[in-house]
Amino acid sequence: MAKVNAEENMNVFATATKAETAVDASKKIRIGIIGTGWIAESHVYSMLKQPDVEIVAGCDLIPGKAKAFFEKETDLTDVKTDYASHKEMLADKSLNLDAVCICTYNCQHAPCAIDALNAGLHVLLEKPMCVTTEEAIEIMRAEKKSGKVLSIGFQPRFDENMQMIKKIVQSGVLGKIYYIQTGGGRRRGIPTPFGTTFIEKETGGLGALGDIGCYSLDCVLNAIGYPKPLTVSGYKSDFFGKDPNYCNYVRLGHPEYAEKFGVDDFAAAFVRLEGGIILDFRIAWAMNLDTPGDSIIMGTKGSLRIPSTDCWNGSFDKPLKIYSEVAGNQVCTEVPLIEAKPGSPTLWDKKMRSFLDACKNGTPSPVPSSQILYNQAILDGISKSSELGREIEIDLPEI
Ligand SMILES: NC(=O)c1ccc[n+]([C@@H]2O[C@H](COP(=O)([O-])OP(=O)(O)OC[C@H]3O[C@@H](n4cnc5c(N)ncnc54)[C@H](O)[C@@H]3O)[C@@H](O)[C@H]2O)c1
Repeated sequence: MAKVNAEENMNVFATATKAETAVDASKKIRIGIIGTGWIAESHVYSMLKQPDVEIVAGCDLIPGKAKAFFEKETDLTDVKTDYASHKEMLADKSLNLDAVCICTYNCQHAPCAIDALNAGLHVLLEKPMCVTTEEAIEIMRAEKKSGKVLSIGFQPRFDENMQMIKKIVQSGVLGKIYYIQTGGGRRRGIPTPFGTTFIEKETGGLGALGDIGCYSLDCVLNAIGYPKPLTVSGYKSDFFGKDPNYCNYVRLGHPEYAEKFGVDDFAAAFVRLEGGIILDFRIAWAMNLDTPGDSIIMGTKGSLRIPSTDCWNGSFDKPLKIYSEVAGNQVCTEVPLIEAKPGSPTLWDKKMRSFLDACKNGTPSPVPSSQILYNQAILDGISKSSELGREIEIDLPEI
């Protein structure tokens, strides 16, 4: 038996804050980019920092867009881009693709993800997972059949402060969770600086719900273990989006965007989750209010207040607060904010790395569809409940 050297053992604690595993760069992962719009830039820049990635192809439905994208954004000169659609790129066996990043607008998430999985590729799929619950189920069926990694693009999950929320819940200090409130939004923030793909029904499918609501839901649902949603009573509106005098349309010189607007700019819901937990939710792309409220997680022993913020950016700028009772005193404990260390990987780099590691090592998806299915079912449930004007039940099959 090896002799234990106590000093060496103690030194392990002195230095080992976190085991960094060296990346094996000898085996490159060959990646194709589907959709070369705005967010594809972030994927490409972050992927290019990884030593074991080769971006070999890209495609866009708009002729010439993928070629122009790689010429403008990168030094990559040998990326193949002469494809009329993602199907053509996936069919090009000469590429020897291992994985794709799906960076299309929401309504194309499901067809692209299903086709890529059916082609035997790993998939990093941008958020929201898709538009409808039915699409999410079909994606998961293709994922199961393929045995490949499917991860959904929720980079806020990699923020240490966000992770602290989950650690606090898991520590048991809040007791049994029975009520959560989440959401957020912007006063004037309908995203149209790069065109109308976010606001048209045929491309965005969902508005504030899919764009930023999915993040708010993930923040709290991931923390409490993603209980299954059972019923949803939802509301959505489009008062700002449908207004040709909406300030940002006027500023951009595009009052006609109001006619194109076919999604929600505000949504609210009351959702029953498994385990007797209630979710109270609201999200806004535009509102006459600073914030629709902090996120809170209420438990029988304590409650956590997560300061209202741009949680879709993966950050908040004020400390978390835990309210509880100690020896008969009602107390409030502030959890100090964790400052990112200079030079540490960005949330995007962590999102990419976690996906690549899962592809290479056969480990579970870092942001699994089994969880995000519930996120999607709530978003879609809110939309459908609002259209029906009544509460609906969420019925999800075994996949
Ligand atoms: N994770 C994040 O922080 C973050 C931030 C912004 C956007 N997003 C998500 O990224 C996605 C894209 O957003 P964007 O702002 O880049 O949109 P965009 O409209 O700028 O770009 C999407 C591109 O995909 C192309 N496309 C659509 N279907 C295609 C297909 N089948 N094959 C090939 N190309 C196709 C479009 O022509 C377009 O050029 C959205 O789902 C959005 O929610 C994520």
